[in-house]
Amino acid sequence: MPLVSMRQLLDEAAKGGYGVGAFNVNNMEQIQAIMEAARETKSPAIVQASRGARSYTNDRFLYHLMLAAAELYPEIPMVLHQDHGNSPATCRSAIEMGFTSVMMDGSLMPDGKTPSTFEYNVQATREVVEMAHEKGITVEGELGTLGGIEDGHGAGVDPLSHLTNPDQAVEFVGRTGIDALAVAIGTSHGAYKFSKKPTGQTLVMERIIEIHKKLPHTHLVMHGSSSVPQDLQDIINKYGGKMRQTYGVPIEEIQLGIKNGVRKINVDTDNRMAMTGAIRKVFVEKPEAFDPRDYMKPAREAMKEVVKARMIAFGQAGHAGDYTPFSLEEVARRYKQ
Ligand code: G3H
Ligand code: 13P
Ligand code: ZN
Repeated sequence: MPLVSMRQLLDEAAKGGYGVGAFNVNNMEQIQAIMEAARETKSPAIVQASRGARSYTNDRFLYHLMLAAAELYPEIPMVLHQDHGNSPATCRSAIEMGFTSVMMDGSLMPDGKTPSTFEYNVQATREVVEMAHEKGITVEGELGTLGGIEDGHGAGVDPLSHLTNPDQAVEFVGRTGIDALAVAIGTSHGAYKFSKKPTGQTLVMERIIEIHKKLPHTHLVMHGSSSVPQDLQDIINKYGGKMRQTYGVPIEEIQLGIKNGVRKINVDTDNRMAMTGAIRKVFVEKPEAFDPRDYMKPAREAMKEVVKARMIAFGQAGHAGDYTPFSLEEVARRYKQ
C-alpha cells in the first residue's frame, strides 16, 4: 500500500473513537519494530521523523526504508509524518520527498527554541496548509508551548500561561485550516517530565476537555506522551545506566484524552529506553559478543513490544483493515471542495 493521508487515518480514528500512536524513527530497526507491531495488532501506523532524524538518515535512506515497509506490509495503512517542522521550508522539503503529513510547529521560531507570537504562528501555519492541502498532504499545527509546569516553565508569571488557550485555539484552527492541533497541557519531551506521578495540577487534562468542547471536529495531538515506565528505567539502571527516578504520562490519562478528541499520540522516549535497556543487557550478559545483530535484534524486539502495548492501549489495534485509503489526489480534491 502506498503511504497514505494522515487526515484520513485520524478521521477514521475519530469515527471509531480510538487514538493512533505516532512513533519516531531514525533507522531500519525502529521502522521494522513499528511495522511488526502494526502487523501483529492489525493497526494503522504513523511513522514520524524529526529534523534530527532526517539529517541523521540523510533523508533518502529514511524514505526508501519507508517504501520498503509499504511494500512488505501492504495490509497496513501507513503515514510518513514530519515531526516538529520548524519552518515552511522544512515542511516543503518533506512534502517534496514524499512525506504524506507535516507538522508546522509555529509555536516556536525557526530556531526551534524561541516562543513565537500568535500572529507568526498563524501566518507560517497557514502558508503550509495552502501548499500541503493542494497535494493532499495533512498538516498538524501547535499552539502553546510544551514544557513542564513543575520545572518553573513560566515561573514568576502564571505557571499555566504557556498552555494552550482554548479560545485562541478556536481562532487558530479557523484562521489556519489545519487538520490536527498539538496542544500544550504540561507535558515535555524526553524522560524527565515529572518528579512524581503527575496530578491535575501538572498534567492538565482538563484543558483537553475544554478545547475538545470548543473544537469537536479538530483532531487533537498529545506530544511528549511517553509513559517512561518504571520497568524500563529499572532495566537501564540494572545494566549500568544512570537514569534518575522520573515519571511520564500515565496510559490512563492518555486514554482519557482519547475519549476527549485526542487522535494522535507522540511517543519516542519509551522506544529509545526499550532499545537502550535491551542493548545494555546484552553488553553486560555477553561481553564477548561483538556482532551488532546480537544487540540490535533484542533492541528491535524490545521496541516492538512497547509499540504493540501502546497500539493496544490507544485502541488502534484491529483497525488496519477498516477502510480503503484514498489516493492523495482524491484527498486533495476533497480539500478543494
Ligand atoms: O520531538 C522530539 C522527538 O523525540 C524527536 O527527537 O529531535 O532528538 O530526533 P529528536
Ligand atoms: P516523548 O519524548 O514523550 O516520547 O515525546 C515524543 C514527541 O512528542 C515527539 O514529537
Ligand atoms: Zn513533540
